[in-house]
Amino acid sequence: MIRSVVRGFGAALPKRVVTNREMEDIVDTSDDWIVQRTGIRQRYIAGEGETTSSLGDAAARAALDNAGLTVADIDLIICATSTPDNTFPATAVKIQNMLGMSHGFAFDVQAVCTGFVYAVTTADAYIRGGLAKRVLVIGAETFSRILDWNDRTTCVLFGDGAGALILEGVESKGTTDDRGILAASLRSDGAHRDKLYVDGGPSSTGTVGKLRMEGREVFKHAVGMITDVIQAVFDSTGTTPDQLDWLVPHQANRRIIDASAKKLDIPPEKVVITVDLHGNTSAASIPLAIATAASDGRIKEGDLVMLEAMGGGFTWGAVLLRW
Ligand code: ACO
Repeated sequence: MIRSVVRGFGAALPKRVVTNREMEDIVDTSDDWIVQRTGIRQRYIAGEGETTSSLGDAAARAALDNAGLTVADIDLIICATSTPDNTFPATAVKIQNMLGMSHGFAFDVQAVCTGFVYAVTTADAYIRGGLAKRVLVIGAETFSRILDWNDRTTCVLFGDGAGALILEGVESKGTTDDRGILAASLRSDGAHRDKLYVDGGPSSTGTVGKLRMEGREVFKHAVGMITDVIQAVFDSTGTTPDQLDWLVPHQANRRIIDASAKKLDIPPEKVVITVDLHGNTSAASIPLAIATAASDGRIKEGDLVMLEAMGGGFTWGAVLLRW
């Protein structure tokens, strides 16, 4: 059977770092409050000329370099984002053009913080269905542009950035020893859409809108939803938490990550944490965390890696892959 194997990874961050101390000058908050409640110490904020597409383009170029490939080798670009440069065309199409690619096709996936998990799963389906051989999967966001900078309950939580993976179809044995994507579980439930949303849009208000969140409500559902999909992936592959080398969670909140890992008996030393450095970068957080842990040598060829996320919608999902 064909498996989608990771060929390369890349990441890009805006130039400007904003520490918790600097957030104290913007809203009534404190470094202590932010660190204790979320684990976040700093975030990167896009400046003039930095957009979702420019960050996505930089991450894509880094991933191509890392893989030793050029755009000529790519058939499809999928960009997971909830903060596109424009309502349309898709940011993926803009990045395709920035990369100098005029063959193949490109589209966006929108599942908020679960966007990258949905995009990787979509890429895997295209590869296994024979519609593409190599897919550039990007998670890119500029959440700073949809934050209400007067709302301390949300603006301290998010940051901007991008990450990318290149997936390639490889003939494989069909066992869990194969490299590549082994299984995925995706969920959504629109009954929760009012707990985390943007209060504008082309068809409702004709404006872009700002992010609104009932933080406690999100927290209440997060751990159960995340652990359910992870367990579903373990069950469908007959693998167990003790076989896992790395859990790469969506980086929203340290407490959600720690509680989820604890519930599944995954020890803290197997969990990749970057929320302290990046804040919550929504669909970019998982590929940024992967790039961090793969470039510092933690994630190695043959490692069993679980990706998981939960976000607005609600949407949630998990992907198990062998690096
Ligand atoms: N600085 C200082 N005080 C604050 C801040 C702030 N930035 N924000 C809120 N407070 C105050 C509140 O006003 C409240 O004060 P009060 O008791 O006088 O009314 C107090 O802190 C406690 O507020 P809570 O909302 O109860 O704080 P909580 O412990 O729930 O932490 C948080 C808030 C961090 C948002 C938490 O609910 C959470 O992590 N929720 C998950 C949300 C999340 O991660 N969303 C990301 C997107 S979804 C995803 O990616 C999974």
